[in-house]
Amino acid sequence: MTGNAVTDFLLKRRSVVAKKMIPQAPDPDHLQIILDCALRVPDHSNVQPWKITVFEGTARADFDERIIYPAAQQRAKETGEPLTEVLTQLERTRMQRSGVVIAVLSQPVIPHKIPLWEQHLSCGAVCSNMLVAAQSFGYAAQWLTEWTAYNEQIIKALEGDPAKDQVAGFIHIGAMEQPPAERKRPVKDEIINYWNA
Ligand SMILES: Cc1cc2nc3c(=O)[nH]c(=O)nc-3n(C[C@H](O)[C@H](O)[C@H](O)COP(=O)(O)O)c2cc1C
Repeated sequence: MTGNAVTDFLLKRRSVVAKKMIPQAPDPDHLQIILDCALRVPDHSNVQPWKITVFEGTARADFDERIIYPAAQQRAKETGEPLTEVLTQLERTRMQRSGVVIAVLSQPVIPHKIPLWEQHLSCGAVCSNMLVAAQSFGYAAQWLTEWTAYNEQIIKALEGDPAKDQVAGFIHIGAMEQPPAERKRPVKDEIINYWNA
């Protein structure tokens, strides 16, 4: 315990994989707080280079059926890797593994005095805040990209321009079946250096 509620939480928080979530939506008031926290990120020069799409209720199945599944079929054709029965089932329910999915698109302003890299970083911060805010309420949450983040049809469906916009993540939020076990964490001394004057 650090004597600080925020750091105590950050030192313990863990993601729960989407396929292990109970696909139950978060409380609507909590969802709004999670979205407000997501927007409260460092953003150099207030560019706001993000586009956020929330998938709740039937919107999840709609996106699976009308966007993800056809994109998966197209991908299978292109790669020659067949969509087996198991994969078909996965693709048709990808967004329904959790209660709410939030797609976060990095939509940089180009040209702009703020470098592209910094605009993408700010979008990563949006995902991070969203994830942490959801986990702080006790929800199961995970930041995923999977193949869907890199698919042109999906980027277009999210109103992005595949020539410049990128999906930073799909944040899945659901209920926890059981608390996740700790995972292997970085060795602090291998990562953190102190500059010797
Ligand atoms: C940008 C980004 C994309 C990710 N995409 C995936 C993914 O596609 N599939 C996956 O299993 N984990 C993915 N992860 C990892 C999980 O979200 C998560 O980091 C991991 O399960 C451990 O999380 P924890 O340290 O929060 O417990 C991704 C993480 C990041 C930061």
